[in-house]
Amino acid sequence: MSRVLLGISGGIAAYKACELVRLLVRAGHEVRVVATPHALEFVSPLALQALSGHPLRSELFSLSEEDRISHIELADWAEVFAVAPATANLLAKLANGLADDLLTTVALATQAPLVVAPAMNVNMFDHPATQENLERLAKRGARLVGPGTGELACGWTGAGRLVDLEAIVGAIERAGSSDDLRGEVVLLSAGPTAEPIDPVRVLTNRSSGRMGFALAEAAARRGAEVVLVAGPVAQPTPAGVERVDVETAREMQDAVLGSLERATIAIFSAAVADYSVERPTASKLKRESSESLTLRLVRNPDILGQVIERRRGQTVVGFAAETEDLLANARAKLERKGCDLIVANDVSRSDIGFDVSENEVAIVGPAPEQVVEVPRRSKREVAERILDRVLEVRRG
Ligand code: CTP
Repeated sequence: MSRVLLGISGGIAAYKACELVRLLVRAGHEVRVVATPHALEFVSPLALQALSGHPLRSELFSLSEEDRISHIELADWAEVFAVAPATANLLAKLANGLADDLLTTVALATQAPLVVAPAMNVNMFDHPATQENLERLAKRGARLVGPGTGELACGWTGAGRLVDLEAIVGAIERAGSSDDLRGEVVLLSAGPTAEPIDPVRVLTNRSSGRMGFALAEAAARRGAEVVLVAGPVAQPTPAGVERVDVETAREMQDAVLGSLERATIAIFSAAVADYSVERPTASKLKRESSESLTLRLVRNPDILGQVIERRRGQTVVGFAAETEDLLANARAKLERKGCDLIVANDVSRSDIGFDVSENEVAIVGPAPEQVVEVPRRSKREVAERILDRVLEVRRG
């Protein structure tokens, strides 16, 4: 999660800045906004302030604004400085190091990485002056995102649209993420397994895979190579993640063990079925065939257990989905399974756990008395805290 300073300059696309602030806040970032006076002709300062939860800054020489937090404190506070939309005029100022208002002064004073999302008329964008400015900014390490191509507010068609807000959020997150997992290979299991009863029916559970996918996304963003072994879930594959889709516990086991050797960190968030049907039928079971039906179940392999037996230096993390005595059960599982950490969550609560967007966990280990509590927050944030803890343990 990053402290994002969002600069808004005065073009028609500034009206989209409110939605951008909302997306960033929803993704767990802390956002402060600096707008040029011209930007405020297009977008309401009150809306920006309400959405970001911080006072909007616009003037350099304002006694009241500078009193709360000075422009230098603002520049130092930022972990990422993003300008969206960036007009042709603003790009020219940034490229030349002008500092004649609050936004451009902060841009010179900050050491945070710069993300620029240009938006303007196609001819202004194509102008050699603008192109040179963009090239200069890119050479200095600025990350340019967009513009998109299409119908422009000015009536022309071509390059100059503010790129999709999701793309801007992605660029900001990549700029803000530390590379602390670079060099690590993270093997993850996620989602439920589905054990066939007949060709059309399965035994499965309520896991949505969200926690595991959030872990995969965060690990990739932090520079790790990620192999995600996923049970049947409807989650999109995060950028840069190698995904292996499986159905049954046995398939999950094969995929996990197949990638174990190259992994340095292994995290098992999958809700693996403990049992599978001993003899799934080759054809569909018919309703008329009998009044009652008995399925004989056999125990599935313990994937985590096998990993522990074969591991060579990997940091291994298990999950414990519990409905009672959370910490006691987690501690017992840590010892019984022999992993380095157990992430315990209470799946009896409807506001966290299975198939919801938030979670609250306790990370137990390596010694049973060591517990890091992560209070209720988005699964993305929980994923970051889990990875923080894994790194602490891994690097002593
Ligand atoms: N796990 C696994 N293979 C299995 C079952 C579980 O790899 N066949 C992993 C899970 O992904 C999780 C951890 O083991 O990381 C603990 O899963 P859980 O179902 O809570 O453990 P169980 O040993 O089945 O314990 P319980 O008695 O609570 O069912």
